[in-house]
Amino acid sequence: MASSDVTGRLLSAGALRDDRNLFTKHNTYRVGISPVQGRRRLAPSRRIGQLTARCLASSISPTSSSSSMLSFPSGDESAQSTKCVLVVGATGGVGQLVVAALIDRGYKTCVVVRDTNKAASVFGETNMDKMQVFVGDTRNMGGIEPAAWEGVTHVICCTGTTAFPSKRWDGDNTPENTDWHGVRNLIDSVPKSVQRFVLVSSVGVTKFNQLPWNIMNLFGVLKYKKMGEEYLCKSGIPFTIIRAGRLTDGPYTSYDLNTLLKATAGTRRCVVLGQGDKLVGEVSRIVVAEACIQALDIQCTCGNIYEINSVEGDGPGTDNKKWEILFTEACPS
Ligand SMILES: NC(=O)c1ccc[n+]([C@@H]2O[C@H](COP(=O)([O-])OP(=O)(O)OC[C@H]3O[C@@H](n4cnc5c(N)ncnc54)[C@H](OP(=O)(O)O)[C@@H]3O)[C@@H](O)[C@H]2O)c1
Repeated sequence: MASSDVTGRLLSAGALRDDRNLFTKHNTYRVGISPVQGRRRLAPSRRIGQLTARCLASSISPTSSSSSMLSFPSGDESAQSTKCVLVVGATGGVGQLVVAALIDRGYKTCVVVRDTNKAASVFGETNMDKMQVFVGDTRNMGGIEPAAWEGVTHVICCTGTTAFPSKRWDGDNTPENTDWHGVRNLIDSVPKSVQRFVLVSSVGVTKFNQLPWNIMNLFGVLKYKKMGEEYLCKSGIPFTIIRAGRLTDGPYTSYDLNTLLKATAGTRRCVVLGQGDKLVGEVSRIVVAEACIQALDIQCTCGNIYEINSVEGDGPGTDNKKWEILFTEACPS
């Protein structure tokens, strides 16, 4: 994708717009909490801003995130207003780029996050008004409560954890629990009305017993991602799976525009798509995020699994026709 496109758009954050009418239809909120934790539900008539205030009031001071927020592009609410996309793993490296681009293009956007403080920090408190926010942990879900899916037409799942033990495994957030049980729980909760479920997975999932993949798979990450993939393929839900190469660009843990500019100004924008798990290499998180969004609108991606890399050169940017050609050519005739 056009790294420069994204950079440009994100840099246009100076033109931030506090668009509180983005979700005229979807202005009700529910906070789905796992059965383990008990259920909490906000009054259904509350607007986004009120939800945000209510979620955050106890823990975030009005200025606590203002200096560290990832700035947002302005939104075009007319462009894609018929779609409502639920992003799971929204505060992650790929997820935050997906969310920013969706809002920029006028998609109604819902996010599932584990931590509203982190979400406010990543997106900026004022930008929380541009999306519906659900709190949930896919490991415990047993399904987001059904009413929370109201209006959702598409899902992009970017959840994940580290392949090897790290602080991110705290609370038993292991690959088995995140990439398998979590993904399965999420799939189980998807209503039949959802038109596409895009899952971010990884190259190498079919080769987790072979060198060098078996090293990456020491704690099962590739095996469990494959199990999640297979569960989705058998679910009957229209799906697209994007298997990423080694991710570059971000995650954006230092949320300021200068860092973002550096991280997105790369020249590896040329997109390489493959099938059959033969591709090995790197891919920009920006490209992965773009591929997920493009897949929502490109019919031939339905029911397909793609590996993705990005290499030196110009890419398709946000051009839907160019992406359609790439996705079409990646599939055997
Ligand atoms: N790193 C690589 O080189 C590489 C290569 C191929 C594929 N991938 C895969 O690509 C995907 C995106 O990568 P990324 O770098 O964007 O990931 P990331 O930054 O680690 O983000 C992962 C997201 O998943 C969320 N999450 C984790 N456990 C969760 C749970 N139990 N319930 C709900 N949400 C949960 C995290 O929430 P918090 O923000 O609250 O932590 C975070 O938002 C992942 O599946 C990753 O495994 C990565």
